[in-house]
Amino acid sequence: MARLVSGEQTVEDSFESSIRPDSIDEYIGQSELKENLSIFMKAAKMRGEALDHVLLYGPPGLGKTTMAYIIANEMGSNIKTTSGPAIEKSGDLAAVLSTLEPGDVLFIDEIHRIPRFIEEILYSAMEDFKLDIIVGSDSSSRNITIDLPPFTLVGATTRAGDLTGPLRDRFGIVSRLNFYTEDELKQIVLRTSRVLKSPISDEAAMELAKRSRGTPRIANRLFKRVRDYALVMGDGNIDLEITKMALDKLKVDAFGLDATDYNLLNSIIEKFNGGPVGIDALASSIGEEASTIEDVYEPYLLQNGFLKRTSRGRMVTEKAYRYLKKSKQDTLF
Ligand SMILES: Nc1ncnc2c1ncn2[C@@H]1O[C@H](COP(=O)(O)OP(=O)(O)O)[C@@H](O)[C@H]1O
Ligand SMILES: [Mg+2]
Repeated sequence: MARLVSGEQTVEDSFESSIRPDSIDEYIGQSELKENLSIFMKAAKMRGEALDHVLLYGPPGLGKTTMAYIIANEMGSNIKTTSGPAIEKSGDLAAVLSTLEPGDVLFIDEIHRIPRFIEEILYSAMEDFKLDIIVGSDSSSRNITIDLPPFTLVGATTRAGDLTGPLRDRFGIVSRLNFYTEDELKQIVLRTSRVLKSPISDEAAMELAKRSRGTPRIANRLFKRVRDYALVMGDGNIDLEITKMALDKLKVDAFGLDATDYNLLNSIIEKFNGGPVGIDALASSIGEEASTIEDVYEPYLLQNGFLKRTSRGRMVTEKAYRYLKKSKQDTLF
């Protein structure tokens, strides 16, 4: 079963498109990003130009895709979407680029996964709205240049550090999405409850917010699960009592930590003496990909002071020892 409190999108989240806010006013939190974007969008509209290219980065589930759609909506343009992993040959990218119409938004999710040799095609497309491609093969091959209409590239990535300098530099607007506050997540839960017409009490919404790891996707997913409990075990009303009961059954603790987090923190304590431990050693000890730990598990643990990153690797903090009720003696050796 997919991990309940992972920010990554799963099939379970297919309902997301129905609860996505579609205007910037409905988009909760990220006030700096919203303010800046609103001004840039207004200015672009006043000049009758396409909005500058936008790069959104941050952990999964924080609203990057949602914002890309909102940008297209607010600009009154169409959105075409693709993703880094879907672009395997230069022809794949050329094909999408050549369908663009003036002012379109091209959304490239996981843009850090575009192969380097293809990335170069983006440079001139972004900078000069020109598509340079090679047609034909071997002796008969030649370069041709196709003019593209002005468009806005919106790129999303969980790993801004993996983008090459030249690509990064071609985005006029670069913004990092931050974890949401409990209050913002509460607003998001209340909004979802209104959209899905499933009433939830204020305290219950706050409880969900607290356990959602600062991540709207998780808040919405937990909301849906709790709603099921309320329907089957209660009278359909989502109150604090049923919410706590459901979340305990789902093994999401008061901080939103689950078995995977416990496993990660306990491994560092028990197998590596609390750390520091290198990311690769940690990854193999819990049987996970290093990149998954970096992108999905650890940002929230770092943010909340359970984990620390040092030059020699990851270390658990005093807070983690206390929270897990562990002492420094709980190591294997
Ligand atoms: N600021 C926000 N306000 C309201 N709902 C949000 C917000 N950000 C994200 N969501 C909700 O969370 C879900 C995940 O957002 P998404 O944009 O897919 O995240 P990402 O692309 O960063 O992984 C969406 O269904 C959306 O409804
Ligand atoms: Mg996304």
